[in-house]
Amino acid sequence: MAIQRTFSIIKPDATKRNLTGKVNAKIEEVGLRIIAQKRIQLSEDQAKGFYAVHAERPFYNDLVAFMISGPVVVQVLEGEDAILAYRTVMGATNPAEADAGTIRAEFAESIDANTVHGSDATDTAAEEIKFFFTDAEIVG
Ligand code: RTP
Ligand code: MG
Repeated sequence: MAIQRTFSIIKPDATKRNLTGKVNAKIEEVGLRIIAQKRIQLSEDQAKGFYAVHAERPFYNDLVAFMISGPVVVQVLEGEDAILAYRTVMGATNPAEADAGTIRAEFAESIDANTVHGSDATDTAAEEIKFFFTDAEIVG
């Protein structure tokens, strides 16, 4: 185990329903620190680029449309084993399968409007952080 950084997005379904504080309370309760944060409106090009890995998947267009349907909060989280710790508190992609007490079990509306994004590995975490933040914006 080691101190890691991971990348988080609070998705438009959560910003619309005024849930950013409740989502971040869950993140902070498991010991992760929010070391960078901004509320932004994604452009279509940004959303397409960010989810390019899913470009061939049937849900890609809906995913991009959803991600630009309202503001998002992009964040860098830091802590012990942060990538797995955050994925664990997020819960399963489909909220119907998410463990009780997780962010998606409590707040997600559907597999599309599923409240949060989290990096899935160290290389993607580093790429995703760089996609949205300069070193100077990560303040600890
Ligand atoms: P994320 O990247 O947003 O943290 O979610 P994830 O790792 O749990 O899931 P991933 O497989 O990376 O999929 C990215 C997002 O695409 C939507 N999705 N829809 N309709 C579907 O079958 C389906 N599968 C995935 C979800 O919104 C998911 O978060
Ligand atoms: Mg993913």
